[in-house]
Amino acid sequence: MKRIEIVKGDITLQRVDAIVNAANSSLLGGGGVDGAIHRAAGPELVHECRLLSGCKTGQSKITSGYNLFARYIIHSVGPVWNGGNNNEEELLASCYRESLKLAQENGIRTIAFPAISCGIYKYPIDQATRVALVESLFFLGGNALPEKIIFCCFSDEIYETYELALRETEI
Ligand code: AR6
Repeated sequence: MKRIEIVKGDITLQRVDAIVNAANSSLLGGGGVDGAIHRAAGPELVHECRLLSGCKTGQSKITSGYNLFARYIIHSVGPVWNGGNNNEEELLASCYRESLKLAQENGIRTIAFPAISCGIYKYPIDQATRVALVESLFFLGGNALPEKIIFCCFSDEIYETYELALRETEI
């Protein structure tokens, strides 16, 4: 079985155990994929999020998925791109590692990620996809769970960049 898959589409519609949200440190919702996830999950999500006391950049927290097909939402706060010399790469890598660790601890077999930080936070897509793939491949190499990681791409550009990065990483 292929343990990494790249798909095009809306993450709120993915039939997986958990989806990851590209959140902000308040965890109380926002625009982009965060707004879409809160709308699709329903108002109970923000109630649970209020109890979490926010989340630091590079960290992740888990909630129920409410009206989504996904049983869980893992909220991860990516770095804002600020030129690349402000620890952005390590913080983005930490988002993937910490989210995958939470997935494993919660028995999650399938998980879908959006391109964290690649929208409003302006992280360069080619660099972000490489970070996501390297961290994911490393984690999969040492862990049986999750069984499958899906990179859910909202645009052709992100999809194509992932495809290229995956080919390069596998060589
Ligand atoms: N499904 C999959 N991917 C999506 C969807 C969707 N429904 N909608 C957008 N994307 P962004 P960030 C893609 O801006 O850069 C929020 O306000 C989008 O095309 O959602 O981490 C938060 O509250 C892009 O490729 O997240 C934070 O304040 C990717 O998801 C801030 O934005 C991430 O774009 C976080 O910014």
